[in-house]
Amino acid sequence: ANKTIGILIGSLRKESFNKKIANFLIANAPTGYTLEPVEIGQLEIYNQDFDEEGSPASYQPFREKIKSLAGVIFITPEYNRSVPGVLKNAIDVASRPYGQNAWDGKPALVISSSISNISGFGANHHLRQSLVFLNMPTLQQPEVYIPNVQSLFDDAGNLSNAESAKFLKDVLAAYIDFLEK
Ligand code: FNR
Repeated sequence: ANKTIGILIGSLRKESFNKKIANFLIANAPTGYTLEPVEIGQLEIYNQDFDEEGSPASYQPFREKIKSLAGVIFITPEYNRSVPGVLKNAIDVASRPYGQNAWDGKPALVISSSISNISGFGANHHLRQSLVFLNMPTLQQPEVYIPNVQSLFDDAGNLSNAESAKFLKDVLAAYIDFLEK
């Protein structure tokens, strides 16, 4: 059976460029792997009281889904030089209750993008800071910073820039190699 790798996207926007990058990766999943988007927009804002008083219904299936994954790919824009709140919230939700960190040991890949030249560097590295604490071994090289992301797609929303397509396929191969180690 295929191993399942989850994809968490740091944007809820219908026409999200990061979602379009995710779609390209899903369509180019390496043999033996299924890449599956994991929804995060339905998760209520985390409150530590939930751990004592009971959590919103959306939390349990999300935590179980994360626990079931062979690995996690994060694809995110940068919001105000950091990780968008919706993604940070999802990370926090599955990190708790204390002692039940669903991310523990999951090999991760971080992809950031931006509509400018800065490529989401701030978000990429703030995210990596959390992944250290969550004990997620994370692919170090190649680093994946995608600038001017709005220019990479055709009118149907498919990734049409050949250089980016090749780079992203190489990244996936490097990540799978890393995950299998
Ligand atoms: C942004 N954007 C942005 N871009 C960037 O390079 N650095 C940043 O710090 C920010 N900050 C920021 C804050 C907020 C609240 C928004 C809404 C946007 C622009 C961002 O790169 C752009 O909106 C992308 O298109 C967002 O990604 P999706 O939604 O296309 O995946």
